[in-house]
Amino acid sequence: MLCDKYREYLNWTVYQIYPRSFMDSNGDGVGDIRGILQKLDYLQALGVNALWLCPVYKSPNDDNGYDISDYRDIREDFGTLQDLDDLIAALHQRGMKLIMDLVPNHTSTAHPWFRESREDRDGPYGDYYYWFDEPPNDWQSVFRGSAWEFDPVRGQYYLHSFAVSQADLNWENPRVRREMADIVDFWTARGVDGFRVDVIDMISKDLQKTRGTFGPRLHEYIRGLFGRENVSKLFTVGESGVNDMEELIRHCAAERKELTTLFLFDHMGCGRADKFTPKPDSLKTLRDRLVYWQEAAEKHDLILTLFTDNHDQAPMISRIADDGEKRYESAAALAVMTYLLRGVPFIYQGQEIGTVSPRYDSIDDFDDVETFNAYREFLGTMTPEKALEKINFGSRDNARRPIAWDGSANFGFTTGTPWIPCHSRAGEINAEKDLKAEKSVYRFYQALLKLRASHEAFITGITRVLSSPEDDFFVFTRAAGNETWVAVINFANEQKIALPFECEAPVLANLGRDTIGGVYAPYECAVAKAGPMKSPMARSQDRPWANEDASLMKTP
Ligand code: NOJ
Repeated sequence: MLCDKYREYLNWTVYQIYPRSFMDSNGDGVGDIRGILQKLDYLQALGVNALWLCPVYKSPNDDNGYDISDYRDIREDFGTLQDLDDLIAALHQRGMKLIMDLVPNHTSTAHPWFRESREDRDGPYGDYYYWFDEPPNDWQSVFRGSAWEFDPVRGQYYLHSFAVSQADLNWENPRVRREMADIVDFWTARGVDGFRVDVIDMISKDLQKTRGTFGPRLHEYIRGLFGRENVSKLFTVGESGVNDMEELIRHCAAERKELTTLFLFDHMGCGRADKFTPKPDSLKTLRDRLVYWQEAAEKHDLILTLFTDNHDQAPMISRIADDGEKRYESAAALAVMTYLLRGVPFIYQGQEIGTVSPRYDSIDDFDDVETFNAYREFLGTMTPEKALEKINFGSRDNARRPIAWDGSANFGFTTGTPWIPCHSRAGEINAEKDLKAEKSVYRFYQALLKLRASHEAFITGITRVLSSPEDDFFVFTRAAGNETWVAVINFANEQKIALPFECEAPVLANLGRDTIGGVYAPYECAVAKAGPMKSPMARSQDRPWANEDASLMKTP
């Protein structure tokens, strides 16, 4: 049985906002908090009940806000603290929640702590960061190049796991831990309902190891932040490289008082050999990773995050599905196979209108620090054309183009000049157009989220997978009480799919089919309530019908 605390979070459906690119209310070309306020009706009508805001704190913006120079204030182009208070109040009035991004691993080098630290090694901030006369290891920055930078002011090297201007905090120092706990308390007192915690696996480090993750005191530090009584009701989701079940349990088992859940990333390898190199792939890989974690988490009563996209990843639809002719079908199929599983859905802005990866002819159309570092590195071994092709495939900016709201100037995002060029396909893919279309991704999402919210089976229900790993489709059930629902998602090939039990007519179907069994078009999907049945509750690994009579499941 899930503990009560987790039970409540399973009702959350989170929409992730990348504030710079969401909606600009004052014409300066940068999305802002007032812009978010303007769109609350749109978001609530979609069916989400929580927002996660990527960082809006004071920041020089080298890594778009993940380089914080004041954790307790708002960067001017996003608005003011008052705007944020207004957003919290407006959300709460609607029964919605707010999750803020917390970046505990590093600050901007413009943060006063770093300035003090570099100027006075014996002063109170002297040990806030990792300082050495010589780099103690050969760690590389996630954004490429050495993770150690010489600071001429202090005459020592400091650690930066990301950009040169993002210095890693020294969590061994109890004062650093106290500072971060105070920051959590500051925002909790202002009314935020939870935190998404940036690279949580990096806050404890063993400098002798080959990588700066999962250090020996990680769990102690997490408990020190979130195990405290006053913050025990917060929803906390850590960004983490965890990829085994034991670690997930160590982070998220309720009695450990650490995190509510994690973002796991092993399905992010879908459709690519590395971040900038495509690899032929299909929905199959995604299905298999999702199924693995569903079954494992269910066994241990943990809750998962359900997501395929975020601000660091090129859209999944462009990597493993069809972002051209079958864009609508693909977007719907991805949504059904992800968001009807057990866990907390996270929808990244733009997914609900079927946003795909854009394309540009020049590196000048990009903005991201990781993208520029990678491009420079590529130029060492390949032509500018080839390097740009890789950037077009993998750049984080693929997920950061302004939301296209309509067909007007700058697609309704701003009346000024957008901080980054608009999406190259914004004329074709925008909210206004999608909402008017017969095949509307937004309306499909809306129907899906409504269905999910209306049936306990989709919230706490048991998940059983009926398709087998060889199948080029995905069939699963969710069951609670005496209600069982079946979801069928076909992959790229047209084929006949049959079920071993009766079902009512589908209540959700991207191509409007009226029976759950039969021939499925590419990326067609449907969800129906099971009628009288043999035994859809059998454990997935048994799959009696699949073994005994495979033709029940699939007729070639
Ligand atoms: C992970 C964030 O998602 C990413 O956008 C950021 O650049 C790094 N952490 C560094 O904070």
